[in-house]
Amino acid sequence: LSTSSRETVAGFLGRPTGEKWIEAAIRSMTILVVDHANCEKKAAATAMSLMNRYPTRDNMVQRMSRLAREELRHFEQVTRLMRETNIPWQPVSASRYASGLRAVASSSEPGRLIDLLVIGAFIEARSCERFGLLAPLVAAPFGGFYRSLLASESRHFTHYLDLACQFAPGGEVEVGKRAARIRQVENALIGSPDRQLRFHSGFPV
Ligand SMILES: [Fe+2]
Ligand SMILES: [Fe+2]
Repeated sequence: LSTSSRETVAGFLGRPTGEKWIEAAIRSMTILVVDHANCEKKAAATAMSLMNRYPTRDNMVQRMSRLAREELRHFEQVTRLMRETNIPWQPVSASRYASGLRAVASSSEPGRLIDLLVIGAFIEARSCERFGLLAPLVAAPFGGFYRSLLASESRHFTHYLDLACQFAPGGEVEVGKRAARIRQVENALIGSPDRQLRFHSGFPV
């Protein structure tokens, strides 16, 4: 990933992931990998739910359709690596992250759509940051796999943010205000103690 896109992602996120999460994550790879597989499925489902909820936004619908296919390909890649490295499926509950973010989305349109797109941008940006942090620290084949995902997560981040700016009646200024509000919630979710270790969790207690 280029230095400029790394800086853009880091600037958008605000608060960086702390050491405590990184240390716990590399110790909990068998849970993290299953959670990652679940996240890819959910990313595809989120893209499809936007397609279903806003069918007349053709530009977004086409982009989300491509995004859903790409996320499902990622799902197939994670599960193939799980088979190759004998990581078994186990029940891994969803983290509080995505639901915590969606809880602050506006309930009226078009604000809700803009907020959901901004939340999508945060999820992709945080994934990009964390894959980048883990890539040099975890064993093969996961290190290389995470490195290969950086470019797509950074592209997904850009797509979500571009769509938000296109649809927001107040353009970039409005998106900036909405992102600032959501950033506070996002930074609190990843920067506070969490009961469970997940890909998008806070640090474990
Ligand atoms: Fe993905
Ligand atoms: Fe993604």
